[in-house]
Amino acid sequence: MRTQVAIVGGGPSGLLLGQLLHRAGIDTVVLERRSRDYVLSRVRAGVLETGLVDLMHEAGVGERMDREGFIHDGTLIANGDEQFRIDFHRLTGRHVMVYGQTEVTRDLYEARDAAGALTLHDCRGVKPHDLDTAAPFVTFLRDGAVHRLDCDFVAGCDGYHGPCRQEIPTEVRREYEKTYPFGWLGVLSETPPVSDELIYANSARGFALCSMRNATLSRYYIQCDLSDSPDDWTDDMFWEELKRRIPAEAAERLETGPSIEKSIAPLRSFVCEPMRWGRLFLCGDAAHIVPPTGAKGLNTAASDVHYLSNALKRFYHDRDDEGLERYSETALARIWKTERFSWWFSSLMHRYPDQSAFDLRIQQAELAFLRDNEAAQKAMAESYVGLPY
Ligand code: APR
Ligand code: PHB
Repeated sequence: MRTQVAIVGGGPSGLLLGQLLHRAGIDTVVLERRSRDYVLSRVRAGVLETGLVDLMHEAGVGERMDREGFIHDGTLIANGDEQFRIDFHRLTGRHVMVYGQTEVTRDLYEARDAAGALTLHDCRGVKPHDLDTAAPFVTFLRDGAVHRLDCDFVAGCDGYHGPCRQEIPTEVRREYEKTYPFGWLGVLSETPPVSDELIYANSARGFALCSMRNATLSRYYIQCDLSDSPDDWTDDMFWEELKRRIPAEAAERLETGPSIEKSIAPLRSFVCEPMRWGRLFLCGDAAHIVPPTGAKGLNTAASDVHYLSNALKRFYHDRDDEGLERYSETALARIWKTERFSWWFSSLMHRYPDQSAFDLRIQQAELAFLRDNEAAQKAMAESYVGLPY
């Protein structure tokens, strides 16, 4: 087979890239290891920056998002029983869109099918070759046969555990990582959200987050030990602990119910440099991970896709490869700022096992500064709604 851009990974970054290139008349084939149902069964975050909302429109897949998504002009920060609001709209003139990542991925698959673009699921042993030549190709196993896909470029959109990043020689590749001494226990429940806006809560018992998917589907998280497993937490234990961590008036209002999904995610910051090697270009989780506190995972994948799709359009339409030459540096500049915000927000809102009394006082002072200082709120709001591309 032959295509212009071979996309490894059928998650949100691979599909969004494929859709934007399709609309620019550039051919792509997506190679995904899992089935489509499996990819769509993953429960992930759901706060979209304005940049991603605009990209969804540019990709022609914004209709359902506009219809079913929620515009949020602000968010709530709780510190024990005290609570204050960050007014994104007043501080930045912008807002975020609450719309599940699963729905984004579903819309992109439907658009890809409608475009008649090729997506191959259940591809095993995907391996890129000759990335340091002008004629790379990808081999993979499917339906018991070995296949070869010739291409001009390979987009590594295969997530953190995918093969593409490993193709960057270790002498060239530099990886930066920070792990956090706790995880997030998340529950999805068919209950009405406790608040119209998200509540990020720092409490003496640890972090909690009240989020939502729609008027009857809520998503809640509590900070938990990394050694915990979801089976250690009955639904009742989860709801009781959540109530202890959010302001009393919210705990009063909280409607509980059976969890329809319960999982624990570790918190990690990770960045791979460079994000390009020869004809290979990494996007999304394949190159960087953020802790979920700032809801930046999907949004950083989107900014990568913005830069790479524009660079590829310049290459194919104007034979200009400057965008490709500058892709890694351009994408990493925005990624490190977003990594900083996600690390800062995680440090502000969680309780650390080794936190000294002094550290705790500083954390409390940082929360008070954010509550009382307009400039601090504006800086937080600008990062939360999304830094410009
Ligand atoms: N061959 C083919 N596909 C693969 C392989 C492989 N060897 N390894 C992984 N994949 C697929 C995965 O099955 C997955 O569907 O690559 C896709 C990567 O998708 P994501 O992990 O969702 O990464 P990305 O598209 O970059 O989206 C980033 O996802 O994890 C969240 O928080 C993250 O919101 C962020 C978003
Ligand atoms: C979510 O809705 O799952 C969510 C929202 C905000 C975050 C993380 C997760 O910071």
